[in-house]
Amino acid sequence: MVCTTTIITFLATLSHAQAIRFLGRVNPTTKELTWPGTGVSFTFTGTSAVVTLGAVSGTSSFNLRVDGGEPTLISDLSSKKISTTGLAQGNHTVVLRKRSETGFGTVTIGNITVDGSFGPDAIPKRKIEIIGDSITVGYGLDGTLPCTDSAIVQNNPKTYGALAADALGADYSVVAWSGKGVTRNYASGQPDDSPIMPQLWTRHGANDADNSYTFPATATPDAVVINLGTNDFSYLNVRPALNATFFTDAFIDFVGNIRGHYPDAEYFLVTSPMLNDNYPSAEDAQKTTHRKSLESVITHFNSTKFHLVDWPSQGSDVGCDYHPNEATHAAGAKLLVDAIKGALNW
Ligand SMILES: *[C@@H]1O[C@H](CO)[C@@H](O)[C@H](O)[C@H]1NC(C)=O
Ligand SMILES: *[C@@H]1O[C@H](CO)[C@@H](O)[C@H](O)[C@H]1NC(C)=O
Ligand SMILES: *[C@@H]1O[C@H](CO)[C@@H](O)[C@H](O)[C@H]1NC(C)=O
Ligand SMILES: *[C@@H]1O[C@H](CO)[C@@H](O)[C@H](O)[C@H]1NC(C)=O
Repeated sequence: MVCTTTIITFLATLSHAQAIRFLGRVNPTTKELTWPGTGVSFTFTGTSAVVTLGAVSGTSSFNLRVDGGEPTLISDLSSKKISTTGLAQGNHTVVLRKRSETGFGTVTIGNITVDGSFGPDAIPKRKIEIIGDSITVGYGLDGTLPCTDSAIVQNNPKTYGALAADALGADYSVVAWSGKGVTRNYASGQPDDSPIMPQLWTRHGANDADNSYTFPATATPDAVVINLGTNDFSYLNVRPALNATFFTDAFIDFVGNIRGHYPDAEYFLVTSPMLNDNYPSAEDAQKTTHRKSLESVITHFNSTKFHLVDWPSQGSDVGCDYHPNEATHAAGAKLLVDAIKGALNW
């Protein structure tokens, strides 16, 4: 037990800016957690920590992980507080990460208080940026078909990208949004003039203005992982099949733009576990067509810094709306870990 006097006496004196590290792309002026996987990390000496939330909009789910232990799922944000429980007096590291994506909801981070003092956070040297669509978000990952995607069944920390980064001891930033493509978004049957991924990628918070991301030097990734195309390829009963040449050209433009910001990074282009060569028709051979397109992108850049990660088509065990489940993500993570290890000697 810690008496109230102790708490007041030892209220942390380090300011947020000194003690709190944002994870992923978080605009420091709004402190809004938007992109999946965004969050905060800090280290303190004491027995409890409270993260106060400012604005809470829509629904979100979070993983609270203390001292690298099993994460706690948090989805009830009505108290506007996320607190640790049952910690012994000592040094503790708290990592809070958003499991769900921007479309369901966002929160802003308010004050973070501890009954002790903040210490310096251990910052991983390795950094990975993962750019993608619903696969990279972790859409429906915790569900079993048939099910409805929600903030709670989305599970970004269990996606291939997050798992690979954890296995490699790397910090990671996820820039992903369900339904997005490189040339066009998911064929929903409704007119969709909402932004495509190359446009969204330029944003700091996912709801910020285009070109608002500042590319801070401290966040420059060593590895850039891109998993896009699944939505571009969707068309059945809605629009013409994808022109693969047009897709390849647009992919090259997008990667060229990314490379302008991260010229020294290694690039990992990932095929889609959701595409296969028989659907919608053997003639489309979408899995092979997509892979060839990524190979053409790699050929275009003619650099040993480009790598193909060929994630096989998934089996029949799937999450909501045929999205990869936990096992498929774990298999994808292994492929990505091997590719990154080989290229970066990690
Ligand atoms: C706790 O952290 C502080 C500050 O980083 C350090 O000086 C101290 O040795 C740590 N204590 C333990 C028990 O690890
Ligand atoms: C944060 O703490 C400061 C100083 O203690 C206080 O003035 C402010 O209202 C707090 N903000 C929130 C969002 O709780
Ligand atoms: C496919 O796209 C390429 C590149 O934009 C273009 O040159 C070609 O005419 C397109 N093919 C068809 C059938 O539209
Ligand atoms: C690829 O790069 C190598 C050396 O960096 C160069 O010798 C070769 O001509 C390039 N190939 C093409 C097709 O541009």
